[in-house]
Amino acid sequence: MAPLKKISITQIFQRRRTQLIFTSVLLLFSLFIFLNFSLTPNSITSITESTPSTLPSATSHLLYASNYISSLSSVYRSVTMESVSNSENSVENGLSFAKKITSLSVSGEKEDDFVRKKRNSCDMFDGKWVLDDSDPVYPPGSCPFLDSTFNCFNNGRFDLGYLRYRWQPHGCDIPRFNGKKMLEMLRGKRMVFVGDSLNRNMWESLICSLRISLVDKNTMFELSGRRQFRTEGFYSFKFQDYNCTIEFIRSPFLVQEWKLPIVNGVESRRELLRLDLIQATTSNYHNADFLIFNTGHWWTHNKTRKGRNFFQEGNTVHSELNVTEAYTKALKTWAKWVDKNVNKNKTQVFFAGYTASHFRKGKWNSGGRCDAETEPITDDKYLAAYPWMMKILESVISKMKTPVVYLNITKMTDYRKDGHPSVYRQPGETERRLGTSQDCSHWCLPGVPDSWNQLLYASLLMSSKKSNNSH
Ligand SMILES: *[C@@H]1O[C@H](CO)[C@@H](O)[C@H](O)[C@H]1NC(C)=O
Ligand SMILES: *[C@@H]1O[C@H](CO)[C@@H](O)[C@H](O)[C@H]1NC(C)=O
Ligand SMILES: *[C@@H]1O[C@H](CO)[C@@H](O)[C@H](O)[C@H]1NC(C)=O
Ligand SMILES: *[C@@H]1O[C@H](CO)[C@@H](O)[C@H](O)[C@H]1NC(C)=O
Ligand SMILES: *[C@@H]1O[C@H](CO)[C@@H](O)[C@H](O)[C@H]1NC(C)=O
Repeated sequence: MAPLKKISITQIFQRRRTQLIFTSVLLLFSLFIFLNFSLTPNSITSITESTPSTLPSATSHLLYASNYISSLSSVYRSVTMESVSNSENSVENGLSFAKKITSLSVSGEKEDDFVRKKRNSCDMFDGKWVLDDSDPVYPPGSCPFLDSTFNCFNNGRFDLGYLRYRWQPHGCDIPRFNGKKMLEMLRGKRMVFVGDSLNRNMWESLICSLRISLVDKNTMFELSGRRQFRTEGFYSFKFQDYNCTIEFIRSPFLVQEWKLPIVNGVESRRELLRLDLIQATTSNYHNADFLIFNTGHWWTHNKTRKGRNFFQEGNTVHSELNVTEAYTKALKTWAKWVDKNVNKNKTQVFFAGYTASHFRKGKWNSGGRCDAETEPITDDKYLAAYPWMMKILESVISKMKTPVVYLNITKMTDYRKDGHPSVYRQPGETERRLGTSQDCSHWCLPGVPDSWNQLLYASLLMSSKKSNNSH
C-alpha cells in the first residue's frame, strides 16, 4: 500500500484556489437564483413539541446508581430491570422511562465528567445545530476510504459552511469525538453495521474518524484490500494495533430479499421480500460486540410502497399488502431474531433512526434537488413529520427482551438540508447540468454522519463507564 501523502487543509486550498474562486462566483450566482425561488420545502408539517416528561421516581435514584447506559438509550429497558426486579423474564417497556435521564456536562478532554452524576436530565438527540469554528474530525478530501459518492469535497464541493456546525443538545454538552479513546474502547472487539447505504454512510464516517487518530495509518486496512464499498454485501476494516474490526453488512430491509427460482429454464425477474426471514449473510455477526442496525429508505420505494405481489411469508405471496403492515412484520422478525440469537450479556445492540431526504421541486428521479442549500433548517415547522416507520420501530423495540440503544437521529438530521452531496455525487462532472439526478438522501463526508458517530461515541463512553462501575 503506498503511503499517503500528508496534506493539510491549507495545501488543499492552495491547490484548489483557482477552482475555489471560480466556484465561489458560481455559488454566489446560484445563491442569487436560489433566493429567487420560494424557499418552501415540499412537505411542511408542524411538529408537536414533545411534552416535557417528568422522570419516574424509580429512575431518578438511578442517576446515583451509575446506571448510565440507560440514559442515552431512548429505548432501553434494563434500568428498571435492575431497580424493580432482577427477574430475567420480566420484559418491561423501555420506552416509557429511560428517555430523559442523562448525565452531563463535559467539554474537551474531560470525558469522565460526562458521566458525572447530576440531577439534570438530558435527551442528547434533542437539541440544535450551532456554528462552531473547530475543524471537522478529519479534513475534507483526506480519507482514502470514502466512496466517491460521499466525497463531496473531492467532487468539487468547495462551500464548506456545512462543516461548521456542531450538534448541541438542549440539556447537556457532549464530548468531542476522540478516536484514540474510541479505539481503546473497541480494543479486541468487533463492531458491525447492518443495514442500508445510510448505515454505510455512518460506517465510512466512523472508519475515517478513527483513522485520523492513528499515528501509523498503514495499520488499518480493509481485509480484502477494497477501496470502494458499494457493490459487495460485506466489508471489514481491521485496526491492527487495537485488534478490532469494524464491519458493514448490506441488508437494506434487514429481512430477506430474493428472486423467484428458475422455472422451466426461465429465470424470473420478479423479486420478493420474505417478511418472516432475517437476511442471511456471508458473515455470522450475531456474536459481535456491537451491532448497529438501520432500515428505512427502501421501504419508501414504489415497489415496496405499493406492495403488490412483493411481500412473502412462508409459501404465501401477498397479492397486496400495506407497507405499514409489511414493515411491522419485518421489524418483528428482526426483533425475534435478535432476542433469540444475540447474547445481551456480550453484545450491545443499537438501532439508528430514519434520516429524511431533502428533495425540493421533485423526487429523486424527477428533477428533485438540494444543491445551493448552504444552511440547516432553523425553524421546526419546516421539518418533516416524525416518520411512521420510527413510531413502529420504537414500539417494536420497547417489547424486546434485548436492550436496544436507539440512536434517535431522525430529527437532528432533518435540520441538515445543507449536508447532502446533491450534484457533487461523483467526481469529474465539471458541468453541473440541471436534469442530472442529485443525491439528497446520503450525506457528504466529512459531514453530518460524523455527528451521529459523536453520539455513538458518547453512548459507548457511558456504557463503558457503567461496566467499569459494576466491577
Ligand atoms: C425521538 O425523537 C423524536 C423527535 O425528537 C421524538 O418525537 C421521539 O419521541 C423520540 N423517541 C424516543 C423514543 O425518545
Ligand atoms: C484479538 O481479538 C480476538 C477477539 O475479537 C481475540 O480472540 C484474540 O485473542 C485477540 N488477539 C490478540 C493478539 O489479542
Ligand atoms: C412511483 O410512483 C409515482 C406515483 O405512483 C410515479 O409518479 C413515479 O414515477 C414512480 N416512480 C418510479 C421510479 O417508478
Ligand atoms: C396502510 O394502513 C395504515 C393503517 O393501518 C393507513 O394509515 C395507511 O394509509 C395505509 N397505507 C396505504 C398505502 O394504504
Ligand atoms: C447473562 O447474565 C445473567 C446474569 O449474570 C445470567 O443469569 C445469564 O445466564 C446470562 N445469559 C447468557 C445467555 O449468558
